[in-house]
Amino acid sequence: MRTGFLLDEINIVEEPQLDIFNPDKYVETDSNVLLNLVNEYYTSFEKTNPIKLVNKSQFNTPVNFKQAKTSPIHRWYTYKEGFSPFFVRQFIERFKSSDKNVVFDPFGGIGTTVVESQLLGFNAYSNDVNPLSNFIANVKAEQYNQKDLADLEKEKKNIATHTFKIKNNPPDNETVSSYFTEITLDSVLKVQAYIDTLENEKVRNLIFIALLTILESISTHRKDGNGVKRKKNFKADFGIDKVTSLLISQIDLFIFDIKNTHFKSKSLIQSQSSFEEYTLNQKADLVITSPPYANCFDYSKVYLVELWFGGFFKSKNDQKSFRESSIISHVHYKWKCRHQDFGHKLVNEEIYNYLSEQNLWDRKIPQMLVGYFNDIGKVLFELSKNLNKGATVGFVVGNSVYGGVPIATDILLAEIGLKLGYKFIGIESYRTLTTSSQQQKIIREQDKKFLRESLVILKWN
Ligand SMILES: C[S@@+](CC[C@H](N)C(=O)[O-])C[C@H]1O[C@@H](n2cnc3c(N)ncnc32)[C@H](O)[C@@H]1O
Repeated sequence: MRTGFLLDEINIVEEPQLDIFNPDKYVETDSNVLLNLVNEYYTSFEKTNPIKLVNKSQFNTPVNFKQAKTSPIHRWYTYKEGFSPFFVRQFIERFKSSDKNVVFDPFGGIGTTVVESQLLGFNAYSNDVNPLSNFIANVKAEQYNQKDLADLEKEKKNIATHTFKIKNNPPDNETVSSYFTEITLDSVLKVQAYIDTLENEKVRNLIFIALLTILESISTHRKDGNGVKRKKNFKADFGIDKVTSLLISQIDLFIFDIKNTHFKSKSLIQSQSSFEEYTLNQKADLVITSPPYANCFDYSKVYLVELWFGGFFKSKNDQKSFRESSIISHVHYKWKCRHQDFGHKLVNEEIYNYLSEQNLWDRKIPQMLVGYFNDIGKVLFELSKNLNKGATVGFVVGNSVYGGVPIATDILLAEIGLKLGYKFIGIESYRTLTTSSQQQKIIREQDKKFLRESLVILKWN
């Protein structure tokens, strides 16, 4: 039986051992033995730390972006995995210890946490490695003055009357260009060229987001799972008039929201991987975040069109470095194990060994899971150096299932946190997750209860 994770391929400097789990007790890899072991392991955790089922009616689930679509500022860009602003607000109000608290989101995305913090008057920080989401978060968290608003109004009028003659070159990626008809592509490139000429940077950025926001609606393809799918019966030609009229509606929304929003504090959005070492300008008192789930979802594929048309990817290497700096959460890339073992023994040994012998849809899955929990552990470790004593930390995570084995990310994350010196406060379950029909067939009835999306609450002492 293989122990540990690819020990010949990684250089372990100092391995923090999780002694909570003793793998020597279990040596067989027969499926029921493993499944019973995993079930007993989670069940014994839950016996001492009961999972609280939360009434989810107010915001459905913490990562349901639905509410954001009708909330000022938040509605500027749709990020499927974005937080519900209401959930963030509720978390801050529930756990704040003073009005001077500093809020931090190590997986900041398009800035739901920082925007809510600014509305409430808390200074906030966020890290992310997605250049598209960082750009959007920055534009949303910006303070716009009267001159900016006047310039934006002026540009809105200019766009309506401008004759667009000059156009930019298409992105250096034929696939993403092929998701637009020739006419639509021509309009997009002309609008892009116009936006580049705008002098007021804040206005330029706002109108650029307006263009990024409408891209999917004028494309022949829509986002679907981990990629895109051709739209059915779609009238795909968008001449310049149609594109500018969509743009103007977006700008109208921005103007309305800016006029009706009053930020009471500031934030700093950092292009920073949270599993690398970093130092926040102020230590945090409240952390509310949601990392990518171990569900094989690849942000660099899903947002490919916006990343290329936004100029965030200029070559295939940019996609590679984005993936390299992202949490290991999918199998579309050959990850190298990049740091010492911060993961969890149950995953590193028993689950890894068992899944390696199963006929999974991708052979990299066991390795991805080991890498995922290593990364999460490293994130918690780096985070701890940036926390004030008594800080409350909330991680929203989704559990998954592979080869019939439930992966209770919430419990595993809580235990990794405990090992690193965090205090465990609780796990609140917000939603039961469904899985692929394939997994539904093989997951045992008694293991289904572990498929949930939950909030893990920890404290730093
Ligand atoms: C579930 S989304 C967070 C969405 C966010 N809560 C919001 O409301 O916009 C997870 C984010 O983690 C980011 N991410 C992945 N790996 C990261 C890393 N190593 N450091 C920081 N952020 C990372 C992804 O780019 C993605 O934006």
